[in-house]
Amino acid sequence: MSTRLLLLVLYSLISLNLQTSHSTDTLKPHQNITDGLTLISSNKRFEFGFFSPGNGSSGGGRYLGIWYHNLPLTVVWVANRNNPVSESFGKLALNENGVLILYNRSLGTVWSTNNIPVAESSTPVLQLLDSGNLVVRDDKSNGTNFFWESFDFPTDTLLPNFKLGWKLDVGLHRLVRSWKSSDDPSEGEYSFSLDSPEVPQLVLRRGSQTLYRWGPFDGSSFSGSTMLTTNPLFQAIFVYNSVELYYKFEMLDDTILSRFVVSPLGLLEYYTWRVNSSKDWNRLITFNSDPCDSYVKCGWYGSCYSLSTCKCLSGFTPESPLDWGLFSYSGGCRRRHELKCSHRDGFVKYEGLKLPDNPIVWANYTDDECEAMCLKNCSCMAYANLNIYGNGSSRCVVWIGDLVDLKNFPNGGDQIYIRMAHTELQSIADAKRKRVTIKIVSVATVVGVLVLSIGTIWYISWLMREKRKDQIGRSSNAQQSGSFQYMEETQDEGFQLPLFDLETIFLACNNFSERNKIGQGGFGSVYKGELSNGQEIAVKRLLEKSIQGVEELKNEIILIAKLQHRNLVKLLGCCIEGDETMLVYEYLPNKSLNNFIYDKPTRKLLTWRKRYHIIKGVARGLLYLHQDSRLRIIHRDLKTSNILLDSELNPKISDFGIARIFGTDQIQEMTKRIIGTYGYMSPEYAMNGHYSVKSDVYSFGVIVLEILSGQKNWAFHHPDHDLNLLGHTWMLWNRRLPLEILDPTLVQEPSSGNQVIRCIQVSLLCVQQYPEDRPKMSTVYSMLSYEKMELPEPKEPGFCRESYTKKFDTSASDSSTLNEVTMTTLGGR
Ligand SMILES: *[C@@H]1O[C@H](CO)[C@@H](O)[C@H](O)[C@H]1NC(C)=O
Ligand SMILES: *[C@@H]1O[C@H](CO)[C@@H](O)[C@H](O)[C@H]1NC(C)=O
Ligand SMILES: *[C@@H]1O[C@H](CO)[C@@H](O)[C@H](O)[C@H]1NC(C)=O
Ligand SMILES: *[C@@H]1O[C@H](CO)[C@@H](O)[C@H](O)[C@H]1NC(C)=O
Ligand SMILES: *[C@@H]1O[C@H](CO)[C@@H](O)[C@H](O)[C@H]1NC(C)=O
Ligand SMILES: *[C@@H]1O[C@H](CO)[C@@H](O)[C@H](O)[C@H]1NC(C)=O
Ligand SMILES: *[C@@H]1O[C@H](CO)[C@@H](O)[C@H](O)[C@H]1NC(C)=O
Ligand SMILES: *[C@@H]1O[C@H](CO)[C@@H](O)[C@H](O)[C@H]1NC(C)=O
Repeated sequence: MSTRLLLLVLYSLISLNLQTSHSTDTLKPHQNITDGLTLISSNKRFEFGFFSPGNGSSGGGRYLGIWYHNLPLTVVWVANRNNPVSESFGKLALNENGVLILYNRSLGTVWSTNNIPVAESSTPVLQLLDSGNLVVRDDKSNGTNFFWESFDFPTDTLLPNFKLGWKLDVGLHRLVRSWKSSDDPSEGEYSFSLDSPEVPQLVLRRGSQTLYRWGPFDGSSFSGSTMLTTNPLFQAIFVYNSVELYYKFEMLDDTILSRFVVSPLGLLEYYTWRVNSSKDWNRLITFNSDPCDSYVKCGWYGSCYSLSTCKCLSGFTPESPLDWGLFSYSGGCRRRHELKCSHRDGFVKYEGLKLPDNPIVWANYTDDECEAMCLKNCSCMAYANLNIYGNGSSRCVVWIGDLVDLKNFPNGGDQIYIRMAHTELQSIADAKRKRVTIKIVSVATVVGVLVLSIGTIWYISWLMREKRKDQIGRSSNAQQSGSFQYMEETQDEGFQLPLFDLETIFLACNNFSERNKIGQGGFGSVYKGELSNGQEIAVKRLLEKSIQGVEELKNEIILIAKLQHRNLVKLLGCCIEGDETMLVYEYLPNKSLNNFIYDKPTRKLLTWRKRYHIIKGVARGLLYLHQDSRLRIIHRDLKTSNILLDSELNPKISDFGIARIFGTDQIQEMTKRIIGTYGYMSPEYAMNGHYSVKSDVYSFGVIVLEILSGQKNWAFHHPDHDLNLLGHTWMLWNRRLPLEILDPTLVQEPSSGNQVIRCIQVSLLCVQQYPEDRPKMSTVYSMLSYEKMELPEPKEPGFCRESYTKKFDTSASDSSTLNEVTMTTLGGR
């Protein structure tokens, strides 16, 4: 009895001892790590050992690496990234010389560190540090003099305190390189590095091709991105001395784990994890998400604005004006006045820019000499005085040859002086003189007018006094100038539309990361955001610039914000700064109608009553826009994704009034710009650019049919014919089988058949080919509401044979992501 007990105690002691011995962070010479055993850093953050990437679907190759301890497998470093061990018989050993060797089953060497000279008396040990750095160091010293460290040979991840850059004394370049795929750690195509010790810039490459560039350093941040240095979560450090040149970041909050990763798809992403509270990694920033940063997007002397449009720097014009912006901007810009390279050339200052690529430092010139020396050299196109090494002394930085990869920053950015021909300088001076003259003239005019009107008012009041008429209202009204009265009137209304500043919106929307994007339309993209007070918002970032001035634009937005109706999405405010125009809406959790219908399981929620409720709500909202509101708004891009649903599935129309914001809306208008979506556009609008309230009626008809059938008009296809949803419905209508169009999930319930047929008939009336045949929204609403009202017989729909699926054959199978094909063309006449 007692011996058995003793044995049991002994056994448990041994296994306990074994377990604790595994939970160590060091490996001594002649010890081995075999598959299954790991080192764990003393703070229990990191773990080192063998793993299989992904979910084991990649053939089960074993890799030696470092990952976060006790988190879902997140690998931060891989030793043998290009040489997996085929089975779980890998063994890592440290020899007396401090060399790490990874053996396979037959004791062949799969991977090893290079032979480093180790001091005679020292005993090398391998240790996994709290920072995630795996080092070989002398057992007797605990300094930072490592014989070898994994931080020198990064894979795809930058951890806090990891130094991206150069060890100049030994010529080591530390850069990160993506995995091939999420379950294959071997070297992928994308790399992120701090390049060129002469002029350091951060660069993301695919192979040898530059994709994105952040730099050069200007003393406080990288020209082109403040996010890499100024950040609420981490402090970035840039060091350049005779021994090393590096960029690193230090966390300000110890309870947040974070890492930079270059993903297999070439995205530079920053992830965080809050210790003890996160359930998943949070992708906080994608640094190369701004299309504007795409390398040389705007060609020579073109500067990219935040909505990825390009403009030529002032003094430059598009190289080929006809193509400029149509397909791309790569043609770039050329000078308005060619350089002749004379001493009469000069420099013009440009501000708020990401500095161009290929800078050169002329180390031996002072700031004052810089301009003169650049002027002397005919290939020197620009200069700037920059604190490029971040150590306080500014340097003469010049650009030899034409300037590329510029980006505009509404706030911030850097200064650069660009060489200009004498004639250009003259025309700038002339323009300035003219402006001054105009100012003087206009000041004079204003003074003149003032004198005159004061005179007039005095004269009128003198007349009044003279006449001594009875003081009844009429005369005193006439006394006042109309414009004064008008101004007071508009002020009296006192409608305050909140203006958000750009920073708030960027912060709320996570910098407009792809993850926050919830929609895309003809006028721009929509992002979900959260204000600091917790309120959820939807932000529409308008793509193009309004042709109106900022004040007019604000007034227009205020007018639209005053449109309030229970079937319209509420506009909470706007943000107009620099080139950005953004509208801030209430956020609706159920998202848009297109997330409910169209083959989604959720459409079962949509009973007939719910669908009828939605159809009538949309009709009411549209009726208000067309007739009841003071503005008479034509929507122009009505579609299911623009109909949002609140928590009770009440429909709310979004995106209304945007056509007006661009200053183009009238009762009927012919437009060069067609903004609309395939499948919803009426024939007269799509073909001739004519739009009117009747084009919205057409779109409404399409939406009703989509709600009833659960099918997309443009993606509809039928084995028997080439008709689209409208054509198919028209055919069934003529065969007196309209109910066959219905969503099969609807048929099962005892729906009121007459009401359904009525809806189909109304929708067919709405999509008739000729606008004059279509009913107005007020009629449509009555038709839907009064069962007794006689309905006319519909005529053939417009666009019932357009087979949209053919046009998009490749994408049709691609499910829901591509269902919003918005057309924005320069068409018409
Ligand atoms: C480690 O592996 C080496 C080579 O296989 C072997 O010589 C040595 O005895 C092993 N040591 C331990 C402690 O397993
Ligand atoms: C494993 O991961 C791959 C991609 O990483 C995925 O395609 C596959 O469905 C996953 N398998 C399982 C069983 O989760
Ligand atoms: C072990 O590695 C050696 C050398 O890399 C190789 O020749 C041998 O085939 C490998 N053995 C196994 C079992 O993978
Ligand atoms: C590291 O060195 C310091 C002083 O040099 C000493 O106080 C400390 O105990 C050492 N730590 C270890 C783990 O040896
Ligand atoms: C700044 O760094 C550069 C490059 O290492 C060096 O040449 C220069 O002397 C440094 N200046 C100062 C003031 O330290
Ligand atoms: C996380 O939880 C563990 C165990 O409950 C605790 O010891 C540790 O202090 C917590 N860490 C933080 C940062 O809250
Ligand atoms: C400055 O450097 C340039 C080359 O970078 C060289 O041609 C020139 O002679 C130098 N001038 C002085 C004063 O050292
Ligand atoms: C202009 O400067 C560049 C860069 O320092 C140099 O390569 C080139 O030879 C210079 N050209 C002239 C004409 O001095």
